[in-house]
Amino acid sequence: MSERTLVLIKPDGVARGLVGEVVARIERRGLKLVALELKNVADDLAAKHYAEHEGKPFYQSLLDFITSGPLVAAVVEGPRAVGAFRQIAGGTDPVDKAAPGSIRGDFALEVQENIVHGSDSAESAAREIELWFPGLS
Ligand code: TYD
Ligand code: MG
Repeated sequence: MSERTLVLIKPDGVARGLVGEVVARIERRGLKLVALELKNVADDLAAKHYAEHEGKPFYQSLLDFITSGPLVAAVVEGPRAVGAFRQIAGGTDPVDKAAPGSIRGDFALEVQENIVHGSDSAESAAREIELWFPGLS
């Protein structure tokens, strides 16, 4: 059973030249790219993407960060793609939660600037894919 997940290589990852590194890790794991786009993100898309965090102390700073420069949005497919990519990414806090060997554990030091986003469930993935790649078949 194949599923899809939405991956973002956030502006810090793009600025640091880590796009190839992240894509290589996705492909090496056996996951497939079905969409990939470099984008400058408008405020309303950023707000919709992170709607679940509205009202939290880090919300505005997160929106400012995600709209601060180009990012790469991708749809990734494969068996258990949602969990598999979350595992490759590592936990949200790159020092306290992400293991060495994960993207965040290898390349990040701060919670906000943690290189990648991956959908947290199949339901979130469906919502986020429709948001970033409307009508993708
Ligand atoms: P969250 O959805 O909890 O994490 P994840 O990206 O692992 O699904 O949070 C979204 C992003 O918000 C997270 O990647 C980094 C940022 N963030 C902060 O800046 N401070 C925080 O305390 C938390 C929980 C998240
Ligand atoms: Mg999340």
